Amino acid sequence: MKFFMDTANVDQVAECAAWGVLDGVTTNPSLVAKEGKDFKETVLKMCELVPNVSAQVTATDFEGMKKQADEYSSWHKHVVVKVPMTTEGLKTLSYCREKGIRTNTTLIFSASQALLAAKAGASIISPFIGRLDDAGEDGMVLIAEIMEIWSQYNFETEVLVASTRHPRHIIDAARLGAHIATIPYALFQKLPNHPLTDSGIEKFVKDWESVQ
Ligand code: E4P
Repeated sequence: MKFFMDTANVDQVAECAAWGVLDGVTTNPSLVAKEGKDFKETVLKMCELVPNVSAQVTATDFEGMKKQADEYSSWHKHVVVKVPMTTEGLKTLSYCREKGIRTNTTLIFSASQALLAAKAGASIISPFIGRLDDAGEDGMVLIAEIMEIWSQYNFETEVLVASTRHPRHIIDAARLGAHIATIPYALFQKLPNHPLTDSGIEKFVKDWESVQ
């Protein structure tokens, strides 16, 4: 399973990349706006740290998305063009497949959207589970449905579990065989920790020091 970080903050990416567990980054316009830094510069710095950096198009029509897809993909070979799940987005995915541009389809909320994006040639699809949970649904049921469908075909499209909110989301996604999880920085910080690890280290150090 690959771990991506859901952020537009380069320092956060550098910190977790140093753990040796980071395979990529997913940015989106909201995350980029929050950091207030130059988009291209941010993407390029991240491309030096990890092999997959999702850069999202902001156009909503095919011509505009196509132009941005061409531009972003020319920046660095690690760029993955993020395209929203619309009919204009589907045309863009198909265009990118023809041109060998890697894509990540964002804002997936149903299995039918997942199927369409895969058929249009998406390299990655991103079902948003936290937002489904927020809306009173069970986002993990969608991941189970998609993984069941994927097990019956030979899609090359990877399933990226997005909008993750807590450690259980990551474990459940892994148990279902999802290919990628994108994880916000705050959640990343929780994953290595366990109170029994902390108290265990404290006791080892104390016992060792008592005989020095
Ligand atoms: C994924 O690529 C998105 O950037 C992200 O997971 C959205 O998560 P949110 O629902 O926490 O905004």
